[in-house]
Amino acid sequence: MTLRLRPVTEPDLDVFRRFASEPGLVGLDWSGYRDPQASARRFAADGYLGSDDGRLVADVDAGADRAVAGFLSWRSGLYGGTATHWEIGIALLPEWRGRGIGWRAQAMLCDYLFWHTPAQRIQAGTHAENFAEQKSLSKAGFQFEGVVRACEFRAGQWRDGYLYSRLRDDPSPLGEPAERLAVRF
Ligand SMILES: CC(C)(COP(=O)(O)OP(=O)(O)OC[C@H]1O[C@@H](n2cnc3c(N)ncnc32)[C@H](O)[C@@H]1OP(=O)(O)O)[C@@H](O)C(=O)NCCC(=O)NCCS
Repeated sequence: MTLRLRPVTEPDLDVFRRFASEPGLVGLDWSGYRDPQASARRFAADGYLGSDDGRLVADVDAGADRAVAGFLSWRSGLYGGTATHWEIGIALLPEWRGRGIGWRAQAMLCDYLFWHTPAQRIQAGTHAENFAEQKSLSKAGFQFEGVVRACEFRAGQWRDGYLYSRLRDDPSPLGEPAERLAVRF
């Protein structure tokens, strides 16, 4: 199978609209219906490649099976001082989960962001019950940092989150620093 990260194109907006309008498709991050046209407006504005946040699409080519597997996102954050960090996220369509795509795609996105931006830190948050993402982040070279108490309101109550990070000098599970937009496995 080949996994590629590429910029968003207009047909991908259908997938984004599905995530915004099909309850639970995105998994635990479902937070109610969202404006299904927001993705078209954002795409028209900057193609989802802004200076403070962005998205790339994960494509898979598995012989006869070529498809969009999902998308990855990043946004800028600041703890103090002047230098920002990135926070990344990922959502795969259910049929592509559990096939080794999630951890590789997140490792590739980190390599891409460290290659093209001076960020020292990339962080990712997940949920206590999201074992797939916890494992996926560890395999992508992230370290568990701790529990962030009551950081998200989801499914009727405030819930704790698990915070992970990968620093520029942490080894990439995919090899030497590089712009790695495609991997075969
Ligand atoms: C979370 C997600 C990105 C993980 O990606 P994935 O492609 O499904 O996971 P991978 O195939 O890369 O698996 C990575 C590891 O997690 C394990 N894993 C996968 N799904 C699992 C599950 N449901 N429970 C426990 N472990 C799981 C795999 O076995 C693998 O470990 P191994 O190599 O030791 O076998 C993906 O499932 C997804 O998009 N889920 C819905 C959206 C979501 O939860 N996003 C993250 C929000 S914080």
